[in-house]
Amino acid sequence: MDNDNRLKIYVETYGCQMNLADTEIVLGIMNKSGYSPTQIIDDADVVLLNTCSVREHAEEKIHQRLGIIKKQKLNKPNLVVGVLGCMAERLRANLLEKRKVDIVVGPDEYRKLPELLDGALAGTQGIGVRLSRTETYDDITPFRTEGISAWLSVMRGCDKFCTFCIVPFTRGRERSRKLGSVVREVEQLVEKGFREVTLLGQNVNSYRDEKYDFADLLAAVANVDTRLRVGFTTSHPQDLSDKLIDTIASRDNLCKYIHLPVQSGSDRVLGAMNRTYTRGHYLGLVRKIRSRISNVALSTDIIAGFPTETDDEHKETLSLMEEVRYDGAYMFKYSPREGTPAYKLGDDISEEVKAGRLSEIISLQQRISYDVNQTTIGKVVEVMIDGTSKKSDLQLSGRTDTNKTVVFPVGSYKSGDVVKVKIDKATSATLFGEVVTSLN
Ligand code: 5AD
Ligand code: SF4
Repeated sequence: MDNDNRLKIYVETYGCQMNLADTEIVLGIMNKSGYSPTQIIDDADVVLLNTCSVREHAEEKIHQRLGIIKKQKLNKPNLVVGVLGCMAERLRANLLEKRKVDIVVGPDEYRKLPELLDGALAGTQGIGVRLSRTETYDDITPFRTEGISAWLSVMRGCDKFCTFCIVPFTRGRERSRKLGSVVREVEQLVEKGFREVTLLGQNVNSYRDEKYDFADLLAAVANVDTRLRVGFTTSHPQDLSDKLIDTIASRDNLCKYIHLPVQSGSDRVLGAMNRTYTRGHYLGLVRKIRSRISNVALSTDIIAGFPTETDDEHKETLSLMEEVRYDGAYMFKYSPREGTPAYKLGDDISEEVKAGRLSEIISLQQRISYDVNQTTIGKVVEVMIDGTSKKSDLQLSGRTDTNKTVVFPVGSYKSGDVVKVKIDKATSATLFGEVVTSLN
């Protein structure tokens, strides 16, 4: 688009998949109001960072990046630099005053962007950080760049108030899109050639549109096209209903993969985290899922070193991991977030102890993932192709509907094709094999 004289906008995204989906909404809004999205930062007239506040480390990295981007203003004085997302919501006018950015816009005020950018281009700083009980961007068409897999936010916010988590404060109360509008968007994605959609929400199982719950939504989306692969994330154990489990089991095109954050294996710590379930309840849920959905894959989130966590309580987390045998896990050191209830407990676990516990958790999970993946050797799995492998142009890479990455030799297939691959080797992160038949 060389002869495109519209102003160019570049958005850099940090954090969770909800932010990736929000960036597409932001670009959808800006594209409609006359801006041209670009992937090349040096070409941009407007640079926005869509940010994450979930841990301090995430914020530090973004602050550093902001410093580098702001330096570009020396050569390009008219460049507009802005902060979107959770950090915008958390730090608010501070970012205008201390970091001297041009605009600060929280997750529920993206409709104000065109107006705020008009102001910024004329030299006026702007801010929009009000949270909403109703905003779902239901009518906005996201600007999507990728052609095979699409993210789709179906609900926003979180009402769970886990004591460590900043999200209920930065993303506000739970609210859901209309089922009909989600289904229409999925129909359009299928027409455009998308082969996979992932329904997103911070707490996606709490989805509700009047009489419809999340299981109804998932079934409706799966029915759009039985060849469309449909996944979802993230699930809170409290809201994972029997109806949802049965819905996943009943349809071939619903991914057999559930991300089910446990956070800790100790009942006392779970209580202090306000997770609303016990270890026993969680393990019962895992047994139920496994008995009803054959070959389901499970992953989790774990926090090491929550305030007051004892060594024995940490060991309970390790023993829960052994018991569940997760396919994968996202593992973090506890990071105190000002304004959350846990912040008041202090941060009494030393950095050294936290790091030690985290490394035990990571090595255990690596061993479990390795062992679980060895059990796929000799089996034939269905793989949707993403593209060439990161490590070699002679290899293709794709994913199973259990979210496992599979690498195999190049053939005459294209992204989005589904092939059957016989697995002959596996590491903790990747399966390797040869195509036995193509399904397309
Ligand atoms: N410190 C460490 N990890 C956190 N998470 C959320 N808040 C914090 C925090 N303050 C983790 C949880 C959550 C994931 C998205 O991030 O495990 O499930
Ligand atoms: Fe944060 Fe808990 Fe909500 Fe997840 S469920 S976003 S961890 S408050």
